[in-house]
Order: sequence, then C-alpha cells, then structure tokens
Amino acid sequence: MSSSQSKRPAADREAEGTPFDLKGYLGQTTRLVDKALSHYLPASRIKPATIHEAMRYSLFAGGKRMRPALCLAAAASCGGSQEAALAPACALECVHTYSLIHDDLPAMDNDDLRRGRPTSHKVYGEAMAILAGDALLTIAFEILTDTRPTQRYGHAAMVRELARASGSRGMIAGQVADMEAEGNQGVSLKQLQFIHASKTAALLTASLRLGGMAANATPRQLEALTTFGYHVGLAFQVVDDILDVTQSSDQLGKTAGKDQAADKATYPALMGLDRSKRKASYLTQKAFAALGPLGKKATALHALADYLLHRLN
Ligand code: IPE
Ligand code: IPE
Ligand code: MG
Ligand code: MG
Ligand code: MG
Repeated sequence: MSSSQSKRPAADREAEGTPFDLKGYLGQTTRLVDKALSHYLPASRIKPATIHEAMRYSLFAGGKRMRPALCLAAAASCGGSQEAALAPACALECVHTYSLIHDDLPAMDNDDLRRGRPTSHKVYGEAMAILAGDALLTIAFEILTDTRPTQRYGHAAMVRELARASGSRGMIAGQVADMEAEGNQGVSLKQLQFIHASKTAALLTASLRLGGMAANATPRQLEALTTFGYHVGLAFQVVDDILDVTQSSDQLGKTAGKDQAADKATYPALMGLDRSKRKASYLTQKAFAALGPLGKKATALHALADYLLHRLN
C-alpha cells in the first residue's frame, strides 16, 4: 500500500472495496482518546493526590473505549472531524467509568474485579471510590464544555444531552430499576427492556448524538444516529448479559457468573441463551437499517455495531 493510500481514512477506503480495518481504527481512536483524557485529567501528584490517582486508576485500566469510538465515528458519519468530537468522547468515557466504579460498590453489584484489576473500592476504600466516581462525573461536564459549539448546537444543548442521558431519566433510572429488580422473579420483558434501555442504551445513544452534534448534524442525521444508538445500546447490554454466562472472569476482566449469583434480571435469565443471542442479532440488524440516511460515511459505525455483537469481552 502506498503511503498516500494508508493516510486516507479507513472508512473511505472501504467505500472503494477494501475491507474496513476495525482493529486499526480502534487502535487509532483509543490512542487519540487516551492522550486527550490524560491531558484533561489532573495529574496524579496534584493535591489531594489520592483522588487523582483513584480517578486515573479506573480510567486507564484498559476499557474498550466503545463510547468514545462511537462518538468519533458518529461525527465522521455526519462529515465532521475526529478532533471536533474529541472532547465529548472523553466526557462520555468519564461518565461511563464513574458508572462502573459505583456499579461495583458493595451497596450495588459488589464486584472485586474490573477491567482486569481490583475494583476502586478494593484499592482505595469505599469513601474514595465514591468520591472518584463523583469527580469523574463532574469533570465530564467540564471537559464537555471544551467542545466547539456548532451552528445548530451550542454548549447548553450538549450539556443537556449528557446530563439527561446520565441522570434519573436515563442511566440512573436503569440502575435504580436494576437494583429493584434484583431477586424479583416476576420481572416482565417490558420491565427488563426498560432497565437495559435506561442503564446502557441511554449513554450509548448520547455518545452517537453528541458526536453528531459536534459535527453539526442535520435533524435527519441526528434522528438516524438516535435510532442506531438505541438499538446498538440495547444489543450491547443483551450481549453483556450473555457474556456474563458464557465467558470466564479472565476473558471479561470482571467476575463472570455474577448475574445469576445475584439473581439479576437479565435476558438469559428471562428467555434463555439462544433466544437472547437471536435478540441481540435482531437489534443489531435494526441498528444497521437505521444507518441508511448516513450513506457511505457510516462504514465505521456499521463495523462497530457488528463488532459489538460478536465481541468476547
Ligand atoms: C460495561 O461496559 C458496563 C455496561 C454498560 C454493560 P463496557 O463493556 O463498555 O466496559 P469497558 O469500558 O470495556 O470496561
Ligand atoms: C452496568 O450494568 C450498567 C452501568 C454501569 C450503568 P452491569 O452491572 O451489567 O455491568 P457489569 O456487568 O458490572 O460491567
Ligand atoms: Mg449493575
Ligand atoms: Mg455490575
Ligand atoms: Mg453485566
């Protein structure tokens, strides 16, 4: 491959028949996001050092960086640059990491392992883990304001987007319903879908929408990203439930088999593994279908949705 060819975006090359190099794409987006995150986060030595160490400990523990990747790919699908969507991508990863730290606390899922490491509260104690989560949530909004406003979307629209998706009508609603459903044998499919759509699909959808907003998406493009995000997000949590049953703790970097042990409301618990796998495929097909209005620029989004369905961790 000539150097001029290799410098062109992978998404453009795919449109000409070369298969999309998702591994290369994720390597590139992860490096970009990690560098920006490190720039945005206070250095570990800054007082009080414990909190900044704890924030970095969970943030740089090797997550898949899927929300940032979706955010950057969404910007590209609307003709925007990765740089334009870099601040929201980092903000999303901070909110996500905070949600994991709190999700693992003894009062919630009580997990000891996350991203292949002991959980925050195991290393820093519960008080510091709660505070590290709080600090990651709040810094997310500081980072978000570093986004350049576009013609259609100002800072207020962007902040509202992230706040709503993370709050008690979004991710928190799902976490509340998840906790309340624990041990309840009578959870309906409708309730389960509410839990998953809220605790996971809400932030995934915001990842796509914020990428679109940073790229000045048209209302039609934003609508396509919203429908795509909802279905990919729901599929993501169905797959997460499946992996909890089928994978080992080593593969997952978090404790496997916890859902059944805690009597969680999950897709495999409600409809069995086979039907759960079909549900995840069906939702992914729906996500693909939503990409129509975005045309060839949505190649990376298509590849990401496919990867999220087939992932092993
Ligand atoms: C785990 O998210 C929590 C869910 C919402 C299912 P990820 O699977 O994206 O976790 P990391 O970021 O790769 O650790
Ligand atoms: C977590 O769902 C969702 C959020 C953190 C918002 P899970 O409890 O299933 O996530 P894991 O399996 O611990 O990563
Ligand atoms: Mg949980
Ligand atoms: Mg959990
Ligand atoms: Mg899970």
